[in-house]
Amino acid sequence: MKERIEALLADVRGLVCKKEQEIEEARVRLLGKKGEITKLFEEFRTVDKEQKRLFGQALNALKQEAAQKIEELKAVAQSGASANGGSKEDLTAPGDDYPLGSRHPVSIAREEIVQIFRKFGYDVAEGPEVEDDWHVFEALNFPPEHPAREMQDTFFVTDNEQKNPILLRTHTSCVQVRCMETMKLPIRVVCPGRVFRNEAISARAHCIFHQVEGLYIDEGVTFADMKQAILLFAREMFGPQTQIRMRPSYFPFTEPSAEVDVSCNICHGKGCNICKGTGWLEILGCGMVDPNVLEASGIDSKKYSGFAFGMGVERIAMLKWQVKDLRHYFENDMRFLKEFETSI
Ligand code: PHE
Repeated sequence: MKERIEALLADVRGLVCKKEQEIEEARVRLLGKKGEITKLFEEFRTVDKEQKRLFGQALNALKQEAAQKIEELKAVAQSGASANGGSKEDLTAPGDDYPLGSRHPVSIAREEIVQIFRKFGYDVAEGPEVEDDWHVFEALNFPPEHPAREMQDTFFVTDNEQKNPILLRTHTSCVQVRCMETMKLPIRVVCPGRVFRNEAISARAHCIFHQVEGLYIDEGVTFADMKQAILLFAREMFGPQTQIRMRPSYFPFTEPSAEVDVSCNICHGKGCNICKGTGWLEILGCGMVDPNVLEASGIDSKKYSGFAFGMGVERIAMLKWQVKDLRHYFENDMRFLKEFETSI
């Protein structure tokens, strides 16, 4: 009897049935009215006392284990997986094709801009998108009634009549103010981030876009240093043949200020529809930091000077990849996004 109990126990433990029908067959074979375990119980009745004492427990344990195993197999079969950890499905079938995402062109362009300046030794700083009037305007030499505040069409969070209202930053120059307030001189920093302007959405403008702005402050920094830094950047970004030109401009926080154009990388200066026949494409604004701005952040403008620049990431990406409509960046159209899969 001992051997038969042991053999059946091994049989139970080795059971692997996948289909419910197979499991039912195993149950009948072992525990059914004429099943092998049931038969053992019948024989057990006739054995002598000594034997009963020896095998009673083992027989009960066998029955219990068999019943439990059958239940387990049934549960697994119902949940769709098999007892040995596989699945009902064909394991040799090829896997599902999950489409891989790709990086957004704005991220790719921002990263490229930041990396170029990192190579030049610039740090990277970020700051809050919801800012106060001081950091966005006041410390940057915008007087209270200055039309430039209107020029930037600000989204106000709190009442704009109150003192130092809260607003959505219209440029990341406010991060540069925070850097001037907290960092040790000399400062060499780029500030990437999202900015907000209350503008009608069109092919050329959006109320949300991204900027990378830069700031360099040290003793004896000149306009020539700025020009060289921007030329090097333009050549890294658009290719070694790139030329730049500077046109006088105005920003409250820089004096003198300039607008920078790069030679059109499509027609190489001959004139095409991208550069509207001029051979030049505007890429950024820049200038020498106004002494008032340095002083507002507690920097001695007699000892230190510096330059700042700021560019729109969407615009740089548009020029680099000839994207014609700014709205593509925000619509998440897979056909558009897929074109940048290989630019990572
Ligand atoms: N902050 C300016 C803008 O948002 C860009 C700029 C930065 C211009 C620094 C000059 C110097 O347009």
